[in-house]
Amino acid sequence: MICGWNINAFFYDVANSRLSHDIDKIIFNFLKKNNKTKNTSVLDLCAGTGSVSFKSLILGAKHVVAVDDSKYMITRMKHKKQLDFFNGRFKIIKLNVLKKDLSKYFNEKFDIIYLKRALYFSDNENKDILKQCYKLLNKNGLIIIVNPEKNLIRYVKGRKILFALPHFLRRLWAWIGLLTRTIKYNVYTYEKFDVLCEEACPRGKLITLNAPLPAYYIRIIKKE
Ligand SMILES: C[S@@+](CC[C@H](N)C(=O)[O-])C[C@H]1O[C@@H](n2cnc3c(N)ncnc32)[C@H](O)[C@@H]1O
Repeated sequence: MICGWNINAFFYDVANSRLSHDIDKIIFNFLKKNNKTKNTSVLDLCAGTGSVSFKSLILGAKHVVAVDDSKYMITRMKHKKQLDFFNGRFKIIKLNVLKKDLSKYFNEKFDIIYLKRALYFSDNENKDILKQCYKLLNKNGLIIIVNPEKNLIRYVKGRKILFALPHFLRRLWAWIGLLTRTIKYNVYTYEKFDVLCEEACPRGKLITLNAPLPAYYIRIIKKE
């Protein structure tokens, strides 16, 4: 799996710039509106080349920890970092997020945790990562999940049109929609994620928003 990402690292930014740009715009507009960009501590899990990490820093995050397990993604991230520009506010950790007890790798909790296009694992592993993120979250902190991919989609029952399609057709449909901007549909609703949420964040509040893209994001807010 990581081997694939290592190869991908060479063209990742080019291939994903439009998708990332549009999704990030939605996320950061939301964060700005809710005063959550300045002075926040941010954990970016499966950070890739660090698109949200860098945007968070530029928008005034107190500090950002970016985690990825691909040494090539990390190398690219480091190249972008422009030595010491962020003055000790940015830390990169090479770590497999599937490790048990993630919290022992961090000696702090975070205001915002990103799982942006990061939950590609088995259902149980995805749930486990979410549980661990919840432990690493400050009160009133946010977990922001963006995942247009298949694993989470399995949790969504009763939406047959898109999800009955084989994976490659969904991806094709998604890319056509992305390029032509013709897709505007409501794919996920709050209730549909209750099941996922119950285990992942028993006292959290879960809200999903539909992005104007063949992707979505979810916010999980820690209440206590
Ligand atoms: C689709 S990219 C997402 C990158 C970034 N979050 C973004 O939105 O641009 C998925 C990333 O997850 C990383 N990854 C995959 N499995 C991982 C694991 N077990 N532990 C840590 N990172 C992992 C890959 O190296 C890759 O950089």
